[in-house]
Amino acid sequence: MFGNAQVGLALKHVFEEGIVKREELFITSKLWCSDHAPEDVPDALEVSLRDLQLNYLDLYLIHWPFRVKKGTNLSPKNYVAPDIPATWAALENLHHSGKARAIGVSNFSSKKLEGLLAVARVPPAVNQVECHPGWQQPKLRQICQANGVHFSAYSPLGSPGTRSANILAHPVIIKVAEALGKTAAQVALRWGLQVGHSILPKSVGEARIKENLNIFDWSIPHDLLAKFSDIQQVRI
Ligand code: A2P
Repeated sequence: MFGNAQVGLALKHVFEEGIVKREELFITSKLWCSDHAPEDVPDALEVSLRDLQLNYLDLYLIHWPFRVKKGTNLSPKNYVAPDIPATWAALENLHHSGKARAIGVSNFSSKKLEGLLAVARVPPAVNQVECHPGWQQPKLRQICQANGVHFSAYSPLGSPGTRSANILAHPVIIKVAEALGKTAAQVALRWGLQVGHSILPKSVGEARIKENLNIFDWSIPHDLLAKFSDIQQVRI
């Protein structure tokens, strides 16, 4: 597991070596549940910027719509009632300062997102949530689209190996992959692009990172795309 400090060292290295420029990267970080108090939000961003060795983020998200007491871990005994409008107002200030070029949320349900949209002066740019062919989230995608909130999918491969259901082994995915001469992972990712959201696949392997990038010069034809609606939806 890498923390922000390790990522910061890697970023420093690639910038100093001229391998990539800061402005060529889109860097997102998230506000943790113990830092929701408005007065804690600027400090939390500063810690992330310091560890990442950056002076701005491209996107800063509220990680979860729930809150624990400052300095405590994510255990039910530490829960306190969230005040999303107050936390959001603190993010709006970071946005105005330029340290978070865009602000958004993560793991917000339709109801929570609509609640925030009703009070936000700067609307959330993004809602980053779990989404893959086995958990397609049509209602939430529709609400995001109707309100100009970019929908971004984490676990777009269904996090294989960590779940009981492996979406990459689903017969519909295998069938479409075989028909197109692609891998199951490529087909799952391409589905996300074609239904209109961005995808955030993770891999530590170079070959898989390349495989996961190789999805932009082909598409799933309509008849095969329609088969994705046969996939049983299971919230894991
Ligand atoms: P690894 O890092 O060993 O490649 P998700 O992004 O849905 O959470 O899934 C991440 C998991 O999927 C990681 O465990 C990663 O393993 C694995 N993974 C990433 N790319 C592929 C791929 N192309 N085929 C199969 N598994 C993959």
